[in-house]
Amino acid sequence: MKQVIDFVKTNREKEKQPAESLGFGKYFTDHMFVMDYDETRGWHEPKVVPYQPLTLEPSSMVFHYGQAIFEGLKAYRTQDGKVQLFRPNKNIERLNFSCQRMSIPTLDEELVLDAIMQLITIEKDWVPDGEGTSLYIRPFIIATEPYLGVRSSKRYKFLIILSPVGSYYGGDQLKPVKIYVEENYVRAAKGGVGHVKTSGNYAASLKAQEEAEALGYDQVLWLDAKENKYVEEVGSMNIFFKIKGEVVTPQLNGSILSGITRSSVLQLLEYWNVPVSERKISIEEVFDAYYRGELEEAFGAGTAAVISPVGELSWNNQKITFAQDRSDNIAKRLYESITNIQLGKEPDPFQWTLEVK
Ligand code: COI
Repeated sequence: MKQVIDFVKTNREKEKQPAESLGFGKYFTDHMFVMDYDETRGWHEPKVVPYQPLTLEPSSMVFHYGQAIFEGLKAYRTQDGKVQLFRPNKNIERLNFSCQRMSIPTLDEELVLDAIMQLITIEKDWVPDGEGTSLYIRPFIIATEPYLGVRSSKRYKFLIILSPVGSYYGGDQLKPVKIYVEENYVRAAKGGVGHVKTSGNYAASLKAQEEAEALGYDQVLWLDAKENKYVEEVGSMNIFFKIKGEVVTPQLNGSILSGITRSSVLQLLEYWNVPVSERKISIEEVFDAYYRGELEEAFGAGTAAVISPVGELSWNNQKITFAQDRSDNIAKRLYESITNIQLGKEPDPFQWTLEVK
């Protein structure tokens, strides 16, 4: 039976920003979804309420032991004014996967989809229609029990907030990004939580990100924690290399995030009969391929970043600069195809989109 989601309407609607000043994650819509968990009631009282600050005890466990997970997906305004989501079930599945690894009680997937649909229906006017814009959806769960012993919390809050966004890196969506291969810090080790969308992974990445930025780079490329040799992922996206016509991406190994854009890229490449492989790839192999003239392209893929071509890759005092004007540019083809499907400009052969009615 469908659960009823209560709705309390705001009495103060906010002003919407023009598309060109959106940036990423700076503005929030009028309402949010919230649902609480406790041991006797389970997940209960789902509701949409005015977007507002939370009141939490300072002893809430999330502040001390970081039991927190999140997701990121988007709603798009199509050419004919409809609103649609891109593969929301994949995000909801991954949210529950994160719950399991972080000892958080799982959610009813149907209810989560219903909550997203109802919230977007209420906030439909917030879905922007400018070039490269969308409404970013951020579901997240935090541990709220007031307690200082180390164990999993007995109380949680699940929230969904919405943010109208433009490009993640600023400027043109296809602006090439400069990437620094990190050799001192590691992001995740096998058996840890690198494959889980938990907040601490991002906290642990900030220092390396700041140091890379100080050197003029946009993002860090992480290597494996054991040998400091194999490519894992970039701070906010999965990474792909095109070597002699084949697209190679690191295989999911328990420390890499299983990106939904990553899986869409792999599916599209197979559909187009482009050779593709998910395997271990060392940073040395990438640079060797470059010196042999066989490295044709590199790009990242993620919900926030969409498809981002790599302009420069720096490792161990060596630098690769990628030409962006190749006629066989696969990043541009992928970007266009994925965004055209998201915007309803191109047929959706995989039934990836879901209209919000
Ligand atoms: C996303 O792509 O949605 C992410 O969650 C990555 C980043 C913004 C944290």
